Amino acid sequence: MDIYKNIMKTDEWKSRYGFLLAAIGSSVGLGNIWRFPYIAYENGGGVFLIIYFFALLTAGIPILILEFSLGHKFKGSAPLTFARINKKLEWLGWWQVLISLIISIYYSAVIAWAIAYFVFSFDLQWGVNTIDFFLHDFLGITESPLTLGSLRINVLFSIFIVWLITYFILNSGIKKGIEVANKFLMPLLFVTMIIIMFRSIFLPGSYIGLNFLFTPDFSKILDVSAWVDAYGQVFFSLSVAFAIMITYSSYLPKKSDIINNAFITGFMDACFALISAIAIFSIVGFMTYNAGGEVPKNLQGVFLAFATIPKAINQMPFMPSLIGALFFLTVISAGITSEISITEAVVSSIINKLHRPRKEIVLIYCIFGFIVSILFATGGGLFILDIVDHFVNNYGIVCTGLVEVAALSWFFDLNILKDHANNISDFKINNIWNILIKFVTPIILLCILTLNIYKDIRIPYGGYSVKALTYLGWSTALLIFILSFLISKIKWYDKEILKGLK
Ligand code: ALA
Repeated sequence: MDIYKNIMKTDEWKSRYGFLLAAIGSSVGLGNIWRFPYIAYENGGGVFLIIYFFALLTAGIPILILEFSLGHKFKGSAPLTFARINKKLEWLGWWQVLISLIISIYYSAVIAWAIAYFVFSFDLQWGVNTIDFFLHDFLGITESPLTLGSLRINVLFSIFIVWLITYFILNSGIKKGIEVANKFLMPLLFVTMIIIMFRSIFLPGSYIGLNFLFTPDFSKILDVSAWVDAYGQVFFSLSVAFAIMITYSSYLPKKSDIINNAFITGFMDACFALISAIAIFSIVGFMTYNAGGEVPKNLQGVFLAFATIPKAINQMPFMPSLIGALFFLTVISAGITSEISITEAVVSSIINKLHRPRKEIVLIYCIFGFIVSILFATGGGLFILDIVDHFVNNYGIVCTGLVEVAALSWFFDLNILKDHANNISDFKINNIWNILIKFVTPIILLCILTLNIYKDIRIPYGGYSVKALTYLGWSTALLIFILSFLISKIKWYDKEILKGLK
């Protein structure tokens, strides 16, 4: 108990600003750069921004308030927090942690690619055919996710660097590690992104892309998939429902503002997404202009970052290498600040459960993470990443979010959390928050889930074989669900921990 108390005591944010930067650092990630711009473009441009804002206000920020209150009140990682509420809910915490575990592994691979591309940008090593370079020269892609092919040593080396950075940051703890890293990386991230945005706006033809992005298509307001995309993006982007925000807020000092912090985090995340959308679509406009009106393909995900943007960089009239290096530096900083939060969610849960020192758990977890990530340095890595990402996002996060709001609304008194948040925050929330958590969010999540299942059953995701999807997608989703129950059955090293703060 004493060691535990000491861990909790020393591991706190030094300042409110430190917590805020870390929470924003966790939210702003790869999702803002490569998912948001395309989703906005596909779902009605200007109209999507309204839908997104609505999703942020009705689900994103209310759940952030919920998770910040949970972490601050129960002072523990997600499994400990849920176990303190009710031992029967502990598995929900582990379910969220296992989702983070999987994300932490494939996320490290993408940051690793960005590190390699940062180096490539100095002499535009990706050449003219950027897609070919990415798939064949760089990744050595095989024909299917079930064929691993050869190991790419340069990818493996970059993955090693990512885990090494993660290790050093997490090993130094909350104040000296995560807080210091965010204080350095977050300003860097915003400055580099703003430079890229201004550079992109002044490229010839940028207005064409901005028209694509902002021209409102009002018919989309009635399109269910635009709403589903908006809510899905809000969840992933705000890092809610996968154990992170509960963990981060557990390190808040007693006197902290929760509600304001949730609003600032939500708005800063949206603000960054908008800045990156403007930058990306100015670049898309520039490419369209250069191609005589033909819109480039591959406007989202890994292909946007590692094929389309490098192609645009090749065409830049002034210092293309510098813009390339800045772009990949932005991706790396956005990625690392999220990666450390995702990994911390896992590490803190193991520390709580096994009562072992942080340094030991961080070392073991980073070695484990690196070993599993080797999978992504093989020729089948990109496919595996794509499938796992799809299933974890569309089923994992949506399901844990749904169970979280439902369990807390129906088996717990939401007013306890509301009062807790109101007592320490300047800005107060009222019963509308209860309604959003109890009814609006679960209904929306249920709709998203149903639609996702319907889509995936009708057409197998991404054109992959049913066998590959079953082994890598459905099985992973099911396995982490079962594992979460099993882990929750393992005894806490110190049972007193569960009573501690009730
Ligand atoms: N919230 C992080 C992202 O958007 C995980 O990528």
